[in-house]
Amino acid sequence: MSHPTVPAMVLAGIGEHLPERVVTNDDLSATMDTSDAWIASRTGIRERRWATGQTSLDLAVEAGRAALKHHGQGPSVDAVVLATTTPDRRCPATAPEVAAALDLVGVPAFDIAAVCSGFVYAAATAQGLIAAGTARSVLVIGSEVMSSLLMPGDRNVGVIFGDGAGAAVVRAGSPDEPGAFGPFDLGADGAAADLITVNAGAGRIPHGTPGVHEAEYHLAMAGKEVYRRSIPGMADSCRTVLEGRGWSVDDVDVLIGHQANIRILHAVARNLGLDAERCFVNIDRVGNTSAASIPIAMAHAHADGAVRPGDRVLMTAFGAGLTWGSTTLVWPELPQG
Ligand code: UT7
Repeated sequence: MSHPTVPAMVLAGIGEHLPERVVTNDDLSATMDTSDAWIASRTGIRERRWATGQTSLDLAVEAGRAALKHHGQGPSVDAVVLATTTPDRRCPATAPEVAAALDLVGVPAFDIAAVCSGFVYAAATAQGLIAAGTARSVLVIGSEVMSSLLMPGDRNVGVIFGDGAGAAVVRAGSPDEPGAFGPFDLGADGAAADLITVNAGAGRIPHGTPGVHEAEYHLAMAGKEVYRRSIPGMADSCRTVLEGRGWSVDDVDVLIGHQANIRILHAVARNLGLDAERCFVNIDRVGNTSAASIPIAMAHAHADGAVRPGDRVLMTAFGAGLTWGSTTLVWPELPQG
């Protein structure tokens, strides 16, 4: 008796797009009480990009186009899944417009809101679409204009976040071929939802509610507590997927972690027993781009030669929600440029 085989999800193309405007730590020091020395030593960030007029839709279209071009088979995916914290509108979702702009009219397209873990959640969702036979290929995008959420002058979050988009084309394939993702570990702890918030402007505190301070419409983060929880959170999630994949920590060639803070990345590596050199780092150039962080890091790691065909890659993210997620893959042969 033959059993139907469930297809795996395989990485087939990547791309990224960053807005042009570079904002250095010195630029920020001119408008808020901070310094290049503090930001660089506490976070690893030297500069980030902030959009001028572009929205998450615009950045997602450019990153999506780059990933489709990298894949090399034209606009031929069966679904678009967009992870974003900063959609263009509260209604409708941004993904259908991204799909339309990429000539992917008629394919299912929807947004995922899992903040910094958004890309891992979106990738796991794409894997579900492929495993169910709903799609043979999916464009998975993380796109953020986090600068739109920042309260001018608020150094707590103002120095950390950046804008950008990253995208991956994934396709149905076999679990033992290079590029096959999995397993995924996803989790959430809504009891800690208040640690990172934009409180006002939605259902709980609608726009125009009297007596609401301007800061409530902007991003607020209990940084120290998130920092404290993120390290065991990501390390435990990594251990779960390593065990599921049958890899030991020594098998991991590259850790592509959410670029929230270089100290967090290195602490996760230490917690796992992984050399710091195996952490891919691009936070110095892009800051924390939330749901776009992992796909931008994948694209940069590939372009820099920091990840090579055959490398065993571990990916992990943690952020608002709280949410977290991890997965693994063996890096496939992908064209350069
Ligand atoms: O991506 C989603 C998840 N987010 C994260 O994972 C972020 C997690 N948190 C962090 O990365 C860190 O907690 C931060 C980078 C946000 C803050 O770093 P920290 O080492 O936890 O700093 P802190 O809040 O303990 O502040 C240390 C000192 C304080 O001064 P005193 O009280 O020691 O005199 C702050 O007032 O640094 C001061 N400070 C700053 N100084 C200059 C806080 N922010 C700044 C700033 N510039 N931007």
